[in-house]
Amino acid sequence: MRLVIVSNRVTIPDRHEKVMAGGLAVALREALEQRGGLWFGWSGAVSEGAPAPVRQVEHGNVTYAVTDLSEAERQSYYLGFSNRALWPLMHYRLGLTEFQRSDYMGYLGVNRRFARALAGLIKPDDMIWIHDYHLIPLAAELRRRGVTNRIGYFHHIPWPAAEIMGVLPFSATLIRTMAAYDLVGMQTEVDARNLIDGLVSLCGARSDGRRVRLGPRETTVRAFPIGIDVEGFRRLAAASARQATTPLRATRESLGQRKLVIGVDRLDYSKGIVQRLEAFGEFLRDHPEERGRVSLLQIAPPSRSDVPEYADLDRQSDEVAGRLNAQLGEFDWTPIRVVKKAYSRKALAGFYRRAQVGLVTPMRDGMNLVAKEYIAAQDPADPGVLVLSRFAGAAQQMSEALIVNPFDSHEVAEAIRTALAMPKTERIRRFEKLYAIIAATDIDWWTRQYLLALSGEAGAAEALAV
Ligand code: G6P
Repeated sequence: MRLVIVSNRVTIPDRHEKVMAGGLAVALREALEQRGGLWFGWSGAVSEGAPAPVRQVEHGNVTYAVTDLSEAERQSYYLGFSNRALWPLMHYRLGLTEFQRSDYMGYLGVNRRFARALAGLIKPDDMIWIHDYHLIPLAAELRRRGVTNRIGYFHHIPWPAAEIMGVLPFSATLIRTMAAYDLVGMQTEVDARNLIDGLVSLCGARSDGRRVRLGPRETTVRAFPIGIDVEGFRRLAAASARQATTPLRATRESLGQRKLVIGVDRLDYSKGIVQRLEAFGEFLRDHPEERGRVSLLQIAPPSRSDVPEYADLDRQSDEVAGRLNAQLGEFDWTPIRVVKKAYSRKALAGFYRRAQVGLVTPMRDGMNLVAKEYIAAQDPADPGVLVLSRFAGAAQQMSEALIVNPFDSHEVAEAIRTALAMPKTERIRRFEKLYAIIAATDIDWWTRQYLLALSGEAGAAEALAV
């Protein structure tokens, strides 16, 4: 069966690309290249003259079919409903949730347009796999056009409790469209349970464990925690450490013997970057003996800068880093380096390996692939320590990390200290357990499990053991 992947953002690979850490794009490309097929979605470009045509580009065994958005569509569908309503709501940030009826109409309009274009490209036995919150109603729109293929959905971000989802106007109408899928994959069991509760309490569905019945359709909802290419990333990190890429060499030279704590995130309020900087400041204040011995490198490529809440975060993170550096720094030591740009995966792998502590402290996160990349990149003979938020989906699997509550700056500060002081034997013990779990549930495992379940192969769904 040919595989058709649909996601909001489609990046056609080119030789000079720089790829950000984590996220949807990296994981999906790896999955599709292994089996070939079609990848459909937004080109990332804006053009006028509606409706924009679909352009097709062949790349290896993958066909990329992309369409532009109009500026009005980008505003309402992408910036508005997806990223000012659904994103904050699903990350439990009610105070940041901005609902506009016109944005919701734009969101439905783009999903309808995508469905129209896609319906003309799919073949009768294609298996369709739709990704993420931008495209929730896409299967319902395809069904209205008579598409009977198996259609799956994977939700990369948290799915909140029904009480939270219920705050969104039209939430019952939106959630109801989930019943058009054959299989809905979530990052964690909690997310899966939350969706089932929402379908039952807000839409009147009936559920029998993981199966939900709404009208004539039956949908299976279950957890498939996403993974990374662990072996590939491990090799990249080892090679990067041997060859010392330019940024890594420069980091080594400028740090000398100092220890390094690293954070790598899109500049997004869900990632807890400002709270993390404050916690690092608290650690240095509480433990003055550590001053001058350790620096925090926060890599934070800008994201969604047209959304006001992201522009606020950009300013706020500069202010906090500037204040802490001014208060705590010395003429020959800068406690915090915030670098707002993207690095190649190879450079990132090298940074992770050089860092004694990986600080992954989102306030809420679907999975968080940086936590997995940090572990994959470590030197098994002298590994660093992962400090991980209990509100990242990854914490459900990675219990040998130092698990913290990112809302408690004191707890994060103490975890940094514990991590820096941890004896090698304990670091190795924790690392080995963490590596084993991320290797057993890597990107291949994730794709295989999901596609087996979507294809409806007998017993496949039951074979899943997380
Ligand atoms: C998260 C979302 C993805 C999204 C990515 C980058 O990982 O789950 O769907 O593509 O962020 O955000 P952007 O808005 O730039 O696509």
